[in-house]
Amino acid sequence: MILVTGGAGFIGSNFILAWLRDHDEPVINLDKLTYAGNLENLVAVCEDPRYRFVLGGIGDSELVARLLEATKPRAVVNFAAESHVDRSIRGPANFIQTNISDTFNLIEGVRKHWESLPEQARLDFRFLHVSTDEVFGSLSDAAPAFTETHPYQPNSPYSASKASSDHLVRAYHHTYGLPTLTTHCSNNYGPYHFPEKLIPLMIVNALQGRPLPIYGDGKQVRDWLYVRDHCSAIMTVLSRGKPGETYNIGGNCERTNHEIVVEICALLDQERPKPDGRPYAEQIIYVTDRAGHDRRYAIDATKIRRELGWVPETSFDRGLSETVRWYLEHPEWVSRVQSGAYREWINLHYQKLERQ
Ligand code: NAD
Ligand code: TYD
Repeated sequence: MILVTGGAGFIGSNFILAWLRDHDEPVINLDKLTYAGNLENLVAVCEDPRYRFVLGGIGDSELVARLLEATKPRAVVNFAAESHVDRSIRGPANFIQTNISDTFNLIEGVRKHWESLPEQARLDFRFLHVSTDEVFGSLSDAAPAFTETHPYQPNSPYSASKASSDHLVRAYHHTYGLPTLTTHCSNNYGPYHFPEKLIPLMIVNALQGRPLPIYGDGKQVRDWLYVRDHCSAIMTVLSRGKPGETYNIGGNCERTNHEIVVEICALLDQERPKPDGRPYAEQIIYVTDRAGHDRRYAIDATKIRRELGWVPETSFDRGLSETVRWYLEHPEWVSRVQSGAYREWINLHYQKLERQ
């Protein structure tokens, strides 16, 4: 079996759903259920015998040690993190705690467990750390995309905390020989994305008749990847990646924020025209820029394509229109997230399980 951490978040839940679709191998999900963790994302598999949820944090050494000892996973895939740049600007402390201290705790627990394994199990074991392209900092318009050897130049408390955990992962491979894999992915989008990030926020605000706030001049560039392609890349790295290596993952799809918002508005104009026939783009407003806002991210994904044969399958046009449609078809998911009601779901669900 494999152990996934942070599997109730956006990418982790997409990963677990995809894993159970494509594999027979069981998966355990260790998640602390912060505001970003939503077990409703996993309703489709919650009674699948191959899936088990464990409520708890990667910073809890005893729990991590007990879980590893009891379940003996052949791999750990670490998604658990604080992930929103704007939140890291307002309150960096949580990011330092989760992305550095708690992640250190997980890596150390995994090392101890790995060292206790018989030789073949040690050779087969993998610790895959899901990182981000943001650790590389910001690119000028004409600069080539980030390769795996680009210098680390993190600019936000979020990216600095992720960079820190990347360094620990690297050190644990170099010093102890822990078979680590690190992935650096560009911005994801798709189903179950918490509506505080650009794409879901714009879809949800547009439908609710609220302003669509673009930071600064809106010409910042991000390199977008459909979340299911990110999941398939992680599975590829897990099965064929070389221990100690890092792999960039990206969709070769650079867009300005302004372009993204305009495209979302155009899709909504088609799919859910306003009763008065006016375009959603009228709701766009320009607001004060994010402090220290990175201008451009772009990923060079040559290595993963050449060495592991992974390429993204979903074009941006198709991925974005599927995403817009997903939000249109899941208004209850959105309203439960917005009202905070999704957090009650866990109590209800476990009460029900206890009665059975
Ligand atoms: P998310 O914020 O949606 O989910 C994070 C999950 O981690 C939540 O379920 C949360 O409850 C859980 N969590 C937080 N602290 C925890 C702890 N101490 N112990 C256990 N669980 C904990 O994040 P996401 O967007 O799904 O991102 C997942 C990973 O991918 C992160 O490491 C992030 O840095 C990385 N990443 C994200 C993107 C993106 O575009 N979203 C791009 C590249 C890399
Ligand atoms: P975000 O989804 O927060 O991802 P990240 O900062 O990790 O790239 O933001 C994507 C881009 O969209 C980023 O350049 C900031 C911008 N943005 C806005 O212009 N308005 C918004 O309301 C948000 C949330 C983001």
